Amino acid sequence: MLSEADFRARARSFREAFAAAFAPETEVDVFYAGKAFLSTHVARWATQEGLCVDTASGGELALALAGGVPPQHIGLHGNNKSDGEIQRALDAGIGRIIADSLDELERISALAVAAGTRAPVMLRLTPGVHASTHEYIATAHEDQKFGLSLTPALDLEDAEASAPEPGETNPYLGSPAWTAATRALQLPGVELRGLHAHIGSQIFEPTGFELAASKLISFLASLRTTYGVELPELDLGGGHGIAYTEADAPRHPEAIAEALAATVKQACAAEDLRVPRISIEPGRAIVGPAGVTLYRVGVQKNVPVEAPDGSTTSRRYVAVDGGMSDNARGVLYDAEYSAVLAGRRVTGEHALSRIVGKHCESGDIVVRNVYLPTATARDDLLAVPATGAYCHSLSSNYNYLTRPAVVAVHNGESQVLIRRETEQDMLGRDTGFAAD
Ligand code: LLP
Repeated sequence: MLSEADFRARARSFREAFAAAFAPETEVDVFYAGKAFLSTHVARWATQEGLCVDTASGGELALALAGGVPPQHIGLHGNNKSDGEIQRALDAGIGRIIADSLDELERISALAVAAGTRAPVMLRLTPGVHASTHEYIATAHEDQKFGLSLTPALDLEDAEASAPEPGETNPYLGSPAWTAATRALQLPGVELRGLHAHIGSQIFEPTGFELAASKLISFLASLRTTYGVELPELDLGGGHGIAYTEADAPRHPEAIAEALAATVKQACAAEDLRVPRISIEPGRAIVGPAGVTLYRVGVQKNVPVEAPDGSTTSRRYVAVDGGMSDNARGVLYDAEYSAVLAGRRVTGEHALSRIVGKHCESGDIVVRNVYLPTATARDDLLAVPATGAYCHSLSSNYNYLTRPAVVAVHNGESQVLIRRETEQDMLGRDTGFAAD
């Protein structure tokens, strides 16, 4: 269940907070990261609130287009885009392709030249900032699959392509990022518009974003010094954290925007650069809190467990009619959620409970620890908040479960955004079944 008003309010607050913080020097585009949750209706809400849409595959791109997002307001990401996906982006005339590798840059250029056009491209850099929920650490080299590193390549071909001359002061020479930027400025099918960095997800402190922004600005300055080119855009990615439980204390978008704007303006002034047009890509922070999942209670049992003080207590296992197929985040990331009994008021005691799904995995846990009324009974409804992001979009048919519907609520009305999957939907893909 998704609150349309909540989604719209969060979309607006990001747009307004970032616009205000970066004014008057520059403008900000907020790209809603569709990977968190996308449907044609949601794409329309985002567009109506003045947001652009960030897509991560040809499928998400098709969905955004079907939702009426103006092509110019769409970005395409992905560390392994196929030629077909790039072609689709070019055919649709989308606003930007975020290139993840040198290999991809060459293919974008070739496809664009063949189509008689130039592709608007951003380069995804890995500025060596590892961000986590509570801290960030700067590292010399990002050991992960995304983007172009700022540290000199071990790869001989890359290193030779831009080997430093004696006396050279550019710290980025020899790095995959520098090689790619140099090439992007030469390629006939590429219009290099700017740099991009996404440092991680579910981040509360602005410090990591600020550090990444400073590194990108320093890279922009090196490009200007070497090639006399001032790239006009900078994308600072998504990753803004939300509250899953009471222990989480996310910052308001205004606080993040103000910290980031101060750093960007200062870093640009220090390099004597114009402040580039800024974009950000929040997904979770816009749609996560807007979503609530409703489960129906089935089987329950009590199990003796050891309490922290060594005494014996009991934990109640409450099984519900879904689980890791509609919310994989517990299994994937040990994610924490809370839950409340919905649909009826009960008084009386609460018991330490664990909400589990109906899948054939003991790790199929929706909420690890929560106190639920002992009166919780079969057929009661449980509401799990903050499930708008990365739940439906990560859902599966494991154990051949049909995926649930997604329903929007707005001003007391409900509207089915995505209908419940039927067994027919699933079985229809099985050619043996279809032939019978
Ligand atoms: N931009 C880029 C390039 C990204 O890779 C991502 C997320 C975003 C923006 C949006 O990040 P957000 O604002 O939603 O944090 N499945 C994981 C999260 C994976 C995020 C992947 N990239 C989870 O459920 O926690």
